[in-house]
Amino acid sequence: MAQINDNFQKLKASYLFSDIAKRVNAFTEANPDKRVIKMGIGDVTEPLPEACVRAFHEAIDEMGTRTGFHGYGPEQGYPFLREAIAVNEYQSRGCDIGASEIFVSDGSKCDSGNIQEIFARDSRVAVPDPVYPVYVDTNVMAGRTGPNRDGRYEGLVYLECNAGNGYIPSPPDRDVDLVYLCFPNNPTGACATRQQLQEWVDFARDREAIILFDAAYQSFIRNPDIPRSIFELEGARDCAIEFRSFSKNAGFTGTRCAFTVVPENLTAKSASGEEVSVHKLWNRRHSTKFNGVSYPVQKAAAAIYSPEGKTQVQGLIDFYMENAKVIVKTLGELGFSCVGGINAPYVWVKTDQPSWEFFDRLLNEAAIVCTPGAGFGTCGEGHFRLSAFNSRENVELAMERIRKVFA
Ligand code: MLT
Repeated sequence: MAQINDNFQKLKASYLFSDIAKRVNAFTEANPDKRVIKMGIGDVTEPLPEACVRAFHEAIDEMGTRTGFHGYGPEQGYPFLREAIAVNEYQSRGCDIGASEIFVSDGSKCDSGNIQEIFARDSRVAVPDPVYPVYVDTNVMAGRTGPNRDGRYEGLVYLECNAGNGYIPSPPDRDVDLVYLCFPNNPTGACATRQQLQEWVDFARDREAIILFDAAYQSFIRNPDIPRSIFELEGARDCAIEFRSFSKNAGFTGTRCAFTVVPENLTAKSASGEEVSVHKLWNRRHSTKFNGVSYPVQKAAAAIYSPEGKTQVQGLIDFYMENAKVIVKTLGELGFSCVGGINAPYVWVKTDQPSWEFFDRLLNEAAIVCTPGAGFGTCGEGHFRLSAFNSRENVELAMERIRKVFA
């Protein structure tokens, strides 16, 4: 009989957001008359920018012609998009990143989940706590951990994030090989300063570790002093990989397009001690397991960088950040202590209740879905997360309901 990968048995029965969706569906079935407001998963609500819609249509029309038809594209992405990304996201901010270092994909969830495949099974992995569950679960699947005991997997190095350190982890006092960092942070919305990030880069270079930097929410940074990319830091090309997404800034959660930056000079060691190009390994993996994002989607993504696209994307970001402001203001007035919501679309809130109990209370008493902090790790206990991705009407209604329950 075929044998399963037993590492999957170490995982919780279902993925955090699937778990939440099940509870919400049960509530909706039992309360069909209640209008549930979902502030749990960070899924965008506003339509695609017009510039993207137009480019999408035009590309589909092209695909319907003999001369404009596109079959398989380059797995790494079309040059027009890679070039636009390199110029607009990096070179314009003084980062030394070229188009050939950009790998276009269908999502940062996949990329940040898949990247561990190119590293050794016995790599020592550090993750923040609380953490986006994908980083942890994919390492569990790959067999890099022991069993889960009291909410933590044996073998992982957990970097505690709490009110005491402003939810920003410091480098550990021991060697690790891979470190996952995410700023602006999911779930806490906290942002590392330039100095804090520089400490991480210096640590990684010193210990020959690689930082897997998730910058999916970088567009929401309002403070010009906060770096938007790890590559703004001195020496990061030697020790970092960055994940970016069009999901949240341009509304592509359903359209799917993202990219990963792997510097050409980044190396890691083979078992025999030889230095190997990480860029080449990722290219090998990507071209073997992925056939590229569709031409119309890449055209739509490239339109983000047109003058009108830039204005429209900024409009979306401003819209969601205004929601975040409303959430932060209401919760503050009710006496909750929170972080995030200022340079990030997530608001991370402290509560005296266990977080799943708080989740049930909010759902039952206000018909609002939040994400319980414990779902992101042990240090998330006693917290909940609210997402600012919603219509203004829903956010205002949700805040009115929260006022009624907690006033
Ligand atoms: C979240 O809510 O944490 C994100 O939407 C998850 C994701 O981007 O996969």
